[in-house]
Amino acid sequence: MLVAGNWKMYKGPAETRAFAAAFSPPEGVEAVICPPFVSLAGAVEAGLTVFAQNVHWEDEGAFTGEVSAPMLREVGVVGAIVGHSERRQYFGETDETVARRAAHALEAGLRVIACVGELEEERDRGETEEVLRRQLSVLDPHPALVIAYEPVWAIGTGKTATPEQAEEAHAFVKSLLDAPVLYGGSVKPENAEELLSRPGVDGALVGGASLDPDSFASICATAARIRS
Ligand code: 13P
Repeated sequence: MLVAGNWKMYKGPAETRAFAAAFSPPEGVEAVICPPFVSLAGAVEAGLTVFAQNVHWEDEGAFTGEVSAPMLREVGVVGAIVGHSERRQYFGETDETVARRAAHALEAGLRVIACVGELEEERDRGETEEVLRRQLSVLDPHPALVIAYEPVWAIGTGKTATPEQAEEAHAFVKSLLDAPVLYGGSVKPENAEELLSRPGVDGALVGGASLDPDSFASICATAARIRS
């Protein structure tokens, strides 16, 4: 099982060091931290397994504000998230740019967590499968590719998908693409067990609850217990 903590725009280098000093990942689970760019090197030096929150599709060039896969690898980062719904919503990320980022990162030797998920109104209109099909259609299977199913209405809202909804969406994703699938959206120590014990749920992508070393360790411990 893979449990990844997406810190979003939280924790500079000092807070990252403090987290690392207080966090000890349990055996039997792969715990990954995804800090902001300025905290990546410090997180690696502190002994964490580190993914970036985004990655560009060229190795270098005139792309202000972007960071490339070789640059991430140089500081010891081993993977990257691509296509998070916040990138899609606020920064103009499209299925096409997500595809380019994912393909290049994989080619450059990074692991990739590619995020998919429907908006609340899309679920209400019965379009969940159509949205997932479109978002996944641009991704090719790869041994280092992991999908994160993150229903947008469950992110940062405290409104978690029911275990049944998660199981159903994960099965649908797996029917289209052979890859491990993480669940993301208001995962907390209190609901980790019911979500992670569902068939087809291969781990979690955790936002808010990954900022605290104890709550993240608790979710990791749940994952380890379920798969042992
Ligand atoms: P929350 O766990 O804060 O809902 O965030 C989920 C998420 O977006 C992880 O990438």
